[in-house]
Amino acid sequence: MSQWLKGKTVVLGVTGGIAAFKGAALCSKLVQAGADVRVVMTASAVKFIAPMTFQALSRHAVAVDTFDEQDASVIAHIDLADRADLVIVAPATANFMAKLALGLGDDMLTTLLLATRAPIVVCPAMNVHMYANPAVQYNMDTLAKRGIRFIEPGEGQLACGYVGKGRLAEPEEIMASIGRLFDTPKLLAGKKVLITAGGTIERIDPVRYLTNDSSGKMGFAIADAARELGADVTVIAARTSVEPPAGVKAVRVESAEQMLHAVLERCAQADIIIKSAAVADYRPLETADQKIKKHGETMTITLVRNPDILSRLGELKRPGQVLVGFAAETERLEENAQDKLRRKKCDFLVANDVSLEGAGFGTDTNIVRIYNEDGLVADLPQQTKREVAEKLLAIVYDRLQQEGVAKA
Ligand code: PMT
Repeated sequence: MSQWLKGKTVVLGVTGGIAAFKGAALCSKLVQAGADVRVVMTASAVKFIAPMTFQALSRHAVAVDTFDEQDASVIAHIDLADRADLVIVAPATANFMAKLALGLGDDMLTTLLLATRAPIVVCPAMNVHMYANPAVQYNMDTLAKRGIRFIEPGEGQLACGYVGKGRLAEPEEIMASIGRLFDTPKLLAGKKVLITAGGTIERIDPVRYLTNDSSGKMGFAIADAARELGADVTVIAARTSVEPPAGVKAVRVESAEQMLHAVLERCAQADIIIKSAAVADYRPLETADQKIKKHGETMTITLVRNPDILSRLGELKRPGQVLVGFAAETERLEENAQDKLRRKKCDFLVANDVSLEGAGFGTDTNIVRIYNEDGLVADLPQQTKREVAEKLLAIVYDRLQQEGVAKA
C-alpha cells in the first residue's frame, strides 16, 4: 500500500461512543498510509476501548490526561497541537462538539484543539435523534462556520437499536476525505502572493490611537488558502485579534505609512497582491511624544490624509501582476465598488456590505461580491472567510492563466 501520508503527523482524537472501536480501524489505516499517528482519548473513550489498543496500533503512548506530562521539555497538548498536520476526531460525540463550539478546554483533546492551527476534521457518531437535535445541529453549524470540516455519519442500524443517521462514517470513507484534503492541487506553486490584513493604528500619543474593527481574519484566511495552494505568501499585518496562519511570512506594522513602506518594498516581486486590510484614510497631523493631558471641555485633533496604498499599487502594477482590492461599504455597494475598482486600477474588487450580519469586520463569515472591469464576477452568499478566500483565489488563478503566466 502506498505511503501517501508519509511525513504527516495526524492527531486522532477519540471520544466516548460505541463507535470508538472503529477509531481503532481508522488508526490502523492511517499508520498503514505512512502517517505518524498520535492518539488522544477522552476519559469517556477509555471506557469503550483500552488505550493499549491505540498504543499498539500507533506505536506511540496514548494521551488521555492533560496533566500526565511524559516529557518535561515540552507541554504535551501544545506540542501535539503544533506538530499536527491534521487533527481528526472519530468518533465525535454530541458532548464533545458542544464543548468545542463553546471553546471549552477541560481535557487533553479540547485544549489541543483550541491550540492547533492544523485543519480539523470531525466525524460525528451518535443516536439518530441526538444527531437531529437542534442543539447538536446548531453546534455543528457554529463549528462549520469556523472552518471545521465534517464527515457526516452514515445511515443504518445503530448500536442503540434505532435505524437512521448517526453511524460513524466508515474508515475507508474517512481516509478518502483525508486524501482530498491533502491533495489540494498546488496551483499557485512558484507564485509570490502579498496580502495585507488587519486594521491600521494611527497614534495620537504613546497610549492612544485611531483604529477600526478589522480582526485580520479575512486577510489571514486568504493567506492560509494561498499557502495551501503552494504559493510563497507574505502577509503585512496591522492590528489583528487573531494570529497569522502557520507557514506564511508575517510582517507586523502599525500605521498606514508603515504598511505602505512594507508593501512597496515587496510589491515588485509579487505575482498577486490582495489588499484586504482596513487602512485608515486619515491620521493625526501630530503624534504627541508624551501622554496628552486634559485641558478644557473639548479637544480638537487635526487629521491629515494618509497615502492610498492600493492606488499606489495600481499605479505601479506591472504586466502579469494581479491586483485585488477590497471595499467595505454600508450603502450603494455596487456603485462604490466599481468606482474604487476603476480609480485604484485593480483587476478585481471584493466588496462587502459590512452592515450585514455575518459579513465584514470581526466575523468568521463574509458575504461578498467580486467585480472586475466588466462587472460582477461572483456573488458569494454567507460562507466562511476561508471559503471566500478559496473562491477568490480560484478567480485570481483563472486571470493568471488567461494572461499566460500561471503554471500550466
Ligand atoms: O479583518 P476582518 O475582521 O476579517 O474584516 C475584513 C474586512 C471587513 C476588513 C475586509 O473584508 C475589508 O473590507 N477590507 C477593506 C477595508 C477597507 O479599508 O475598505 P475601503 O473601502 O476603505 O478601502 C478600499 C481599498 O483601499 C481596500 O483594499 C483598502 O485596503 C485600500 N486602502 C484604503 C485606504 C488607504 N489609505 N489605503 C488603502 O490601500
